[in-house]
Amino acid sequence: MSEKGFAEGACLPPLHEVVRRASSTSPAEAAMNLSDDLRRALRQVASSVAIVAAHGTSNPIGMTATALSVVSLTPPALLVCVNRTCQLHTAILERRAFRISYLSQAQSEVASVFGGGRAQEERFAVGSWDLDAAHGPALRGSLASFGCSLSSQLDHGTHTIFVGTVEDVRFGSERPLLYRDGAYCRVV
Ligand SMILES: Cc1cc2nc3c(=O)[nH]c(=O)nc-3n(C[C@H](O)[C@H](O)[C@H](O)COP(=O)(O)O)c2cc1C
Repeated sequence: MSEKGFAEGACLPPLHEVVRRASSTSPAEAAMNLSDDLRRALRQVASSVAIVAAHGTSNPIGMTATALSVVSLTPPALLVCVNRTCQLHTAILERRAFRISYLSQAQSEVASVFGGGRAQEERFAVGSWDLDAAHGPALRGSLASFGCSLSSQLDHGTHTIFVGTVEDVRFGSERPLLYRDGAYCRVV
């Protein structure tokens, strides 16, 4: 993946505006157009990137995620959306805990290896990890790391939304890694 730099405070390139009129001939075609537009529109949105990790029964389990959000500060809660086919899904349900480490701009390689297609062992060989951290492995040098205990979950389509109560916070003063238009980018 290439890494792009955006000038701090500068606007992103103008969006190519796509407005679909109700000209579709069938509901199936309309649904397909909507789904295509959604995918294209979401590519324009810059997201923070994190590794979400949990202690598996015999080894650490982790994956790259951008579907993350703060739920509330009181109580302190974050959410992550995890595809039900991912190993992390099973690990979170078993351990009832997970850790979210938001990546700093120097950690795009970690994002790539945790983004799929690699064995868990290979993933944790990249980056410096505190494998014994509470709630789940913590990535050293990350922007911020949050240890969460699972407080609720909601299945939605292919994914489960896991809401975690934050019980441990670690942070430094790094700059964030972002993901936009299929590439990792950084604030310069
Ligand atoms: C930039 C990026 C963001 C991703 N965000 C998510 C996400 O929010 N939720 C999710 O379930 N998968 C997400 N994925 C895909 C998972 O990282 C990938 O499916 C996972 O590592 C596969 O793990 P497995 O080998 O356990 O199936 C993302 C991948 C990338 C490269």
